Amino acid sequence: MYGDKMGYKTFINAVEITKMIMKEYVKPGYIALDCTVGNGNDTVLLASLVGQEGKVYGFDIQSIAIEVTGDKLKEEGLENRVTLIEDSHEFLDKYIFQKLDFIIYNLGYLPKGNKEIKTKASSTLKSIKKALPLLNSNGLMLVTCYRGHDGGMEEWKAIKNYFKSLNQKEYSVLEFNFVNQQNNPPILYGLEKNG
Ligand SMILES: C[S@@+](CC[C@H](N)C(=O)[O-])C[C@H]1O[C@@H](n2cnc3c(N)ncnc32)[C@H](O)[C@@H]1O
Repeated sequence: MYGDKMGYKTFINAVEITKMIMKEYVKPGYIALDCTVGNGNDTVLLASLVGQEGKVYGFDIQSIAIEVTGDKLKEEGLENRVTLIEDSHEFLDKYIFQKLDFIIYNLGYLPKGNKEIKTKASSTLKSIKKALPLLNSNGLMLVTCYRGHDGGMEEWKAIKNYFKSLNQKEYSVLEFNFVNQQNNPPILYGLEKNG
């Protein structure tokens, strides 16, 4: 599924794993949600994968993230299939009124940006709780948690506890954890809504 050989390059980091899963899972016509747009890497990839018939929603609280991503989308001619929203993802129910096939959270702060502006346990959890009912059967949610920064550990624990509490008949949740890496490596969760 992920090429001929499974080696270090395949498991290099959570970002690469999320990209592989997106490329494998997201199909033309899908409706996708990026809850943390940041530099737009995930939003742009999703926009290319969903095709002309698909749609992507993207949230970020920083105007710079929305602007940079808007520019990248225009460069690629993908802006018409994406709605960028400068607001916290905890308010996604004010903006999205349709079912979703794919949802991604890449938590924490903007790389090379202001490290004080970051996702927080309470708002992330509110957002996930609002996003889950929007997920279609067999829809997928990916959440990458970073534990090394102030508040990161608390956010991860809140998410993990919530995922552990979900009924296994309704959702399957898989944890991807680099068990032999030092210094609190990122942990990725892949949640599937059972059909
Ligand atoms: C790790 S970055 C995302 C990187 C992005 N996925 C990319 O491909 O470049 C996390 C982003 O979450 C944003 N963020 C923090 N709190 C947020 C919130 N409550 N709602 C939406 N975005 C938020 C930050 O501004 C930051 O841009």
